[in-house]
Amino acid sequence: MKKNVIEIENLKTYFDISKGFLKSGKNSIKAVDDISFEIEAGKSLGLVGQSGCGKTTTARSITMLEEKTDGDIRFFDQNQNMMTSIDGLSEDQIKSFRRDVQMIFQDPYEAMNPRWTIRDTILEPLIIHNIGTNQERELAVVEILQTVGLTPPENYLSRYPHELSGGQRQRVAIARALIMKPKFVICDEPTSMLDVSIRISIMDLMVSLAKDLNVSYLYITHDLAVARYMCDRIAVMFSGKIVELAETEELLKNPIHPYTKRLISSIPVPDPTYERKVYEITKQDLEYIENLSDNKDELYDTGNQHYVSTDKIKGLL
Ligand SMILES: Nc1ncnc2c1ncn2[C@@H]1O[C@H](COP(=O)(O)OP(=O)(O)OP(=O)(O)O)[C@@H](O)[C@H]1O
Ligand SMILES: [Mg+2]
Repeated sequence: MKKNVIEIENLKTYFDISKGFLKSGKNSIKAVDDISFEIEAGKSLGLVGQSGCGKTTTARSITMLEEKTDGDIRFFDQNQNMMTSIDGLSEDQIKSFRRDVQMIFQDPYEAMNPRWTIRDTILEPLIIHNIGTNQERELAVVEILQTVGLTPPENYLSRYPHELSGGQRQRVAIARALIMKPKFVICDEPTSMLDVSIRISIMDLMVSLAKDLNVSYLYITHDLAVARYMCDRIAVMFSGKIVELAETEELLKNPIHPYTKRLISSIPVPDPTYERKVYEITKQDLEYIENLSDNKDELYDTGNQHYVSTDKIKGLL
């Protein structure tokens, strides 16, 4: 039977931006506006879209760093061996959640305490969750440093975050997330601040760790080429909504939504003599999509597990 690590149902996260005491409550930014998806155990989903479309807000809502406005989020609770809604969790269940759902951020430096050594940084989650004896913890830290390619580990244990390069710091962040043995990790643009050459090695590391440790990623990026490299399926987001979702190669070969077509047409090609034309969205394109189905509440299944939104989406022309 298909097992999921995360299930998102009709998630909405709105930010109230009304000012002053006459707050009407009507003035809100619909950062995430009714999205649904699930991720199967061991598979990764790319969440792709331009700046401001709601990717980080989706991640922050799932990890409870941001309060959702509506909808349901269910995670696979390894303790109870079942899908569990994040609403109304007991203290113990919140602990399980914090162990089972890890996050890797764009800027690892920001997520680390500059006064802690690498050893302390990676050790902390084990201490918080009371996992293992002191000796077992020390061993686990050494092992995970090796796993993420920071070798020999002795060279890194007593160093501080500022003494590492950006790529090395991101390896520490990956180690810190994976030492908890999560089955689901949310990665928010984890390589976008790194040099291109280092970017590839971190991406390779993450792909191979996902396979070895059977981890699923929700991999957030504005770069479709990166999502293609990292993910089994891709969800394309625009203005708080998912406009299209399909298996990676299916989405790239047979894009249906004009926004996806435009995104694909703007992937840079390595041949400098070849100038690709960026796809221009027309009114007819949008009408075609909107007429595919009357049910605007759900993504329309075009077959091949390829889903597209038939919603009227503002701001595309
Ligand atoms: N705390 C907040 N208060 C008000 N508006 C917010 C807040 N956080 C995000 N937003 C708004 O919500 C929308 C989505 O932002 P979000 O950070 O999720 O986008 P993103 O897709 O991650 O963009 P980027 O690729 O630039 O990281 C934006 O319009 C943003 O300005
Ligand atoms: Mg973001």
